[in-house]
Amino acid sequence: MSGYRQTYDEWRADPQAFWAEAAREISWTRPPEKIFDPHAGVYGHWFPDARCNACYNALDRHVEAGRGDQPALFYDSPVTGTKRTITYRELTDETATLAAVLADLMVVAGDRVLIYMPMIPEAIVAMLACARIGAVHSVVFGGFAAKELATRIDDAEPRVILTASCGIEPGRIVEYKPLLDLAIGLSKHKPASCVVFQRPQISANMKDGRDHDWNSLVEAAKAAGKRAPCADLAATDPLYILYTSGTTGVPKGVVRDIGGYIVALKWTMSAIYNVKPGDTYWAASDIGWVVGHSYIVYGPLLHGCASVLYEGKPIGTPDAGAFWRVIEDYNVAAFFTAPTAFRAVRKEDPQAALLKKYDIQSMHTLFLAGERADPDTVAWAEKALGVPVVDHWWQTETGWAIAANPVGLGILPIKLGSPTVPMPGYAVEIVDEASHPVPVGEMGSIVVKLPLPPGCLPTLYRQDDRMRESYLKEFPGHYKTADAGFIDEDGYLYIMGRTDDIINVAGHRLSTGGMEEVIASHPDVAECAVLGVKDEIKGEQPCGFLVLKAGVNRPYEEIEKEVVKLVRDRIGPVAAFKMALVVSRLPKTRSGKILRGTMKKIADQDPWTTPATIEDPKVLDEIREALEARAG
Ligand code: COA
Ligand code: AMP
Repeated sequence: MSGYRQTYDEWRADPQAFWAEAAREISWTRPPEKIFDPHAGVYGHWFPDARCNACYNALDRHVEAGRGDQPALFYDSPVTGTKRTITYRELTDETATLAAVLADLMVVAGDRVLIYMPMIPEAIVAMLACARIGAVHSVVFGGFAAKELATRIDDAEPRVILTASCGIEPGRIVEYKPLLDLAIGLSKHKPASCVVFQRPQISANMKDGRDHDWNSLVEAAKAAGKRAPCADLAATDPLYILYTSGTTGVPKGVVRDIGGYIVALKWTMSAIYNVKPGDTYWAASDIGWVVGHSYIVYGPLLHGCASVLYEGKPIGTPDAGAFWRVIEDYNVAAFFTAPTAFRAVRKEDPQAALLKKYDIQSMHTLFLAGERADPDTVAWAEKALGVPVVDHWWQTETGWAIAANPVGLGILPIKLGSPTVPMPGYAVEIVDEASHPVPVGEMGSIVVKLPLPPGCLPTLYRQDDRMRESYLKEFPGHYKTADAGFIDEDGYLYIMGRTDDIINVAGHRLSTGGMEEVIASHPDVAECAVLGVKDEIKGEQPCGFLVLKAGVNRPYEEIEKEVVKLVRDRIGPVAAFKMALVVSRLPKTRSGKILRGTMKKIADQDPWTTPATIEDPKVLDEIREALEARAG
């Protein structure tokens, strides 16, 4: 019997008592007396009078409790042929030293520090060093272009930027420093200092006065015996800002406050993921995404687990057995990745033949999130691995699962296609456009009754109004997830897609509106529409339909190539924008709205009907013909 129902009901009966109890697992410098203040901030604040430090709870606390010699991180990098085990004591020492370096660079509590780094231990040290002194980190994913980085620099206004000379993608070295220099050239805000970790693969050029060599600063601080203590911070102080795609090209700076986040994550480690202190936990994501923040860094470390930091891919580094090899090498108990990674593995090794080479008995559950887990992939994974495959649904904004199968409370029956049930903290409702609940089994907008639980965003960075406008205005008293779906007769949730223009490509969240802004800046393009079309591996792939300005008579192919390059240069390779198609017109309603839904169905080869409001039905045939001509 699962304890889920009882736990959820306990939360419903008294949310404050529930979170007060969960808060006992955290070490506070001032324990919370008040649990929730509904009058503070945009919709309230958790633990408004408490004080704590996330780094202390993730590191020092474990060393003091005798876990100093236990591995905290297993760094495994097939792209460089490196493996390194870092204990809690070592990670604490490295972090305290780097925190002292930051303090010497005049970083004080509340200052922002931008981290633009690959998947190396120093990146985690960087995040925790910020947390230690109360600096607010903002990690930017390595696959973004300079322009995106510049937008984030201008929004966060960091005093210091921490970076490395390069990241490594299979077959290519991504030089970070030239991208960073370009971004700083483009941004209005200029950081006072950049600290560069030189990797052996490439040495970055340094700019006098602004740039500092990471190792030299750290060595000097060590020689001088410098260590920064953990700052005593308000639970409501921000821990980090993580930018995520909005509906325009301007990303949203999701703020995470300290106290609520560490309470919620600690709770999830046992209740959802069913791991104990000392177990190895592996989230094969990237520290640039929310999954990386919550489940490569903070969650496992808060719980005293060993976390795997994997600098590699599911396939090609060297083969589709990479996941199994890592699970065996580090005795991974719980493994978390995106369905796209499993689709890639399955395509390379459909019979899971490579599994036979490895012993993966340590793993008790596979967790999937980041995009819809298609039943086919889940069934394949379950059969191949012989363990429960648990889909769970969440967002950058929430920081942890809205719906999951809480394995630690006792696993519930799995229904393929459903991330199971709402977690305590989330009163999930399905509503129509007028905010009225829809009947069981009917599709609608998925909303969460306010307040959101601890760990969710209190606001968007310096944009309380955008927070209200984007999430709280449309369905009063509720948080709008911008996902659509339904709840079945057993209370299981089904997530069917976004209600806005966000698409999900290989588990990466992208804004089609942002891509359209870039494409529209091409001198030959009159108008355009970008859609996410079905992709066997990545789930969706962006596809851009372009209408050219009158009088343009250059070869279409040339313009299409330029547009692809433009998106890659402005947004970055992560946009995976490879399909641009010139068409003579876009299908529109009589009021001028582009019929994206119908275009998507045509591109996906799903059944479609001509909308009654269409201006000229012939345009849909033109779109179909253009797509067929491209497919050959
Ligand atoms: N730095 C620089 N470039 C990066 C990058 C990084 N950190 N991460 C990805 N890229 C580049 C890739 O090299 C690729 O470039 P290309 O167009 O030159 O080939 C491009 O961005 C698109 O990357 P991606 O969509 O990830 O595709 P891929 O072909 O490299 O790999 C998968 C496909 C399915 C194996 C891979 O997407 C994957 O493992 N995804 C897991 C998703 C995930 O972790 N999601 C996080 C939420 S849980
Ligand atoms: P991100 O903020 O990058 O984590 O992306 C969040 C979005 O990804 C959600 O709003 C969903 O659209 C989608 N998503 C994440 N997890 C799932 C899941 N388990 N099932 C369906 N969609 C998901």
